[in-house]
Amino acid sequence: MAKQENKQNKGLVIVIAAIAATGGLLFGFDTGVISGAIPYLQDFFELNDSQLENLTALGLIGAVFGALISGPITDYIGRRKVILGAAFIFATGALWTGLAPNVAQLMISRFYLGLAIGASSFAVPLYISEISPTKIRGTLVSMFQLLITVGILAAYLSNTVFADNDNLECWRPMLYVGVIPALILFIGMIFLPETPRWLMSKGREDDCRKVLGKIEHPDSVENSISEMKSDIAVDATQSGWRELFKPWLRNALIIAIGIMFVQQFVGINTVIYYGPKIFLAAGFQGAEDAISAVVIVGVVNVLFTILALFIIDRLGRRKLYFIGLIGISIALICMGLGFMIPGVSKWFLVISMLVYIAFFAISLGPLGWLIITEVFPTRVRGIGASIGSLSNWGFNTLVVWTFYKMASAIGNAKEVVVPEGQDLSEVCPSCIGSVFWIFAAVAVIGLVWGYFYIPETKGISLEKIEAHWRAGKKPRDL
Ligand code: BGC
Repeated sequence: MAKQENKQNKGLVIVIAAIAATGGLLFGFDTGVISGAIPYLQDFFELNDSQLENLTALGLIGAVFGALISGPITDYIGRRKVILGAAFIFATGALWTGLAPNVAQLMISRFYLGLAIGASSFAVPLYISEISPTKIRGTLVSMFQLLITVGILAAYLSNTVFADNDNLECWRPMLYVGVIPALILFIGMIFLPETPRWLMSKGREDDCRKVLGKIEHPDSVENSISEMKSDIAVDATQSGWRELFKPWLRNALIIAIGIMFVQQFVGINTVIYYGPKIFLAAGFQGAEDAISAVVIVGVVNVLFTILALFIIDRLGRRKLYFIGLIGISIALICMGLGFMIPGVSKWFLVISMLVYIAFFAISLGPLGWLIITEVFPTRVRGIGASIGSLSNWGFNTLVVWTFYKMASAIGNAKEVVVPEGQDLSEVCPSCIGSVFWIFAAVAVIGLVWGYFYIPETKGISLEKIEAHWRAGKKPRDL
């Protein structure tokens, strides 16, 4: 009997993991898919780079809103319904963006899709962490980050299938593909239960017990229930927001926002979203080739994220942060050089970009999301982590929205004249290169900042971290 129960538990955990995977996949897919669609829809709608930035940024602004409003809604109607809603938006948004007859609709539909990206970036990890058996919670949560990178790769691969230099409308099927994982998520979520923690917070103790019975070992069900009860009682007497802004938690807040600033301002998503365009600027002929070259970026991103999962608890956070940022700085300088020096091989740029992605994937990528869940005490962890993820989307929007604007400001300063029908990147590749040097400067500043602020949380209990902040000690003395 116990054996059978155990089997049943395992089955449910696998289903939860698969659904979690789909949530992460969609997040990655819908952010990555735009990169292959860009070269075609830019020609199709005759967009200039600035309009293109607006289009890409609107999806991200949607994500900021989605992340912002999903906090209170997940508390009110439950985690499961928010994910169902997000899956619905993912599916209908994929269709709408693919069908968009004009730029205005494309922009609105990207914003709409962005809402689901933001909501799922918050609600899916929350759902997973509240419903996973305690023992494998960490693994399942970090799997989410890995699957974002798998989703980006899936989008790149699917883009190569549809890319067609003879058909300017091939961006449409690229966008439709997003319907498939959205439907899987939607159907899967119909069969999954609400989280025990949310049920308990609504006073539904019997329902909570039923769900716990399916996922936890029978002996630990009552224990989990009483722990939840006392947690919820503490929450009710404390205002998390007020607590979060008290002086003793200032460093935790600076760390959460700061690491996301560095993660985004080294320019990661200019490569993830504009990769094919950057390759075109570097001398690749035709969008099809550029889109294929970007697949290698996606593969390296996934492989090095897997490596990170193995070494993050062994090497520790600080070491990884410094190794990663040193690599990122050097790679960014090389990427800049790739554009600056006339006649340099396009492969020099490709290799520099791969080195850049590899160093990002073992450091800032997973570290950002991990550290925001580690530096806050339990009571304010939810709010603290959501400020971290909001900062992530906010900074992401800023960088993606200003990339070409920065390049063109540099072009203006150099008095570069862009003839009608040509891109700035065609007449002034060095203007693009200079922006990578700006990112390199941020990486160097990030190294100095990190020396003072990145804490070594490896193997340190959350209680100990809290006591450290309460004693007013410095992050680097942890
Ligand atoms: C970042 C995303 C980025 C992704 C690339 C994540 O950690 O937050 O903005 O697109 O890594 O793998």
